[in-house]
Amino acid sequence: MANGVGHSRDVAVIIPAAGMGSRMGGVPKQFRTLGKHTLLRRSVGCFTGLKEVMQVVVVVPEGHLSDTEADLKSVDFDGLVLTVGGATRQESVRKGLEVVSSAARVVLVHDAARPFASTDKIREVVAAVRDYEAASLAIPVADTLRKVSGTNFAETVSREGIYRMQTPQGFRPALLVEAHREAAEAGWKTTDDVDLVMRQGHAVCLINGHPANFKITTPDDWELAEMIVQDATASRGPDG
Ligand code: C5P
Repeated sequence: MANGVGHSRDVAVIIPAAGMGSRMGGVPKQFRTLGKHTLLRRSVGCFTGLKEVMQVVVVVPEGHLSDTEADLKSVDFDGLVLTVGGATRQESVRKGLEVVSSAARVVLVHDAARPFASTDKIREVVAAVRDYEAASLAIPVADTLRKVSGTNFAETVSREGIYRMQTPQGFRPALLVEAHREAAEAGWKTTDDVDLVMRQGHAVCLINGHPANFKITTPDDWELAEMIVQDATASRGPDG
């Protein structure tokens, strides 16, 4: 099933894109142009070509519905839904969940700031959700980890068994809805959805991610993303 053959169109994707990108300054990064397309359109495009994807819910900041609609107008996909997000990523995902189709059997959550998620990795997450209910991409930490005190290094932290979480993270829809409901009720705050689901006692399956699927956070990340896009353009002709 790794190629998506044999399953109906039952995957919904939530793309939280309601951050104001304070670490990069200027226009929120998801609306900035990377090569030929905005960052957001690229991230949306990671999913819209997959035949098992029925719906992509893009969660945007207040006041950005119409410009996002214009940006995504050329996306050839009939299941695109835009909705307004909240003050935190967690709240934005919760708002996205409110408009996920009741026909979805798998829901993926993917950061708008990760435009290089591959089809293969997305499908690995979907397959694991079908088997295990919850799954996420992550990559093992390879560098030595050390705390810093002022401008000097302080103690070393063991990297043994430490992974960096990526997205997409995937879940059975009811499981994620319940996790967000309980988190909102209990006032739990977190930066990803795996955490909320684990707090409910669910196991989450680890799928090895890929370094190219990094989250664009700083101006240095943006520069790296531009180099990747330029390389792709040079080797394949104008990027799609
Ligand atoms: O800030 P950070 O890079 O962790 O954000 C991860 C993702 O969550 C981004 O795609 C961002 O647009 C989104 N986000 C959101 N609503 C917020 C804050 C962040 O949808 N209030």
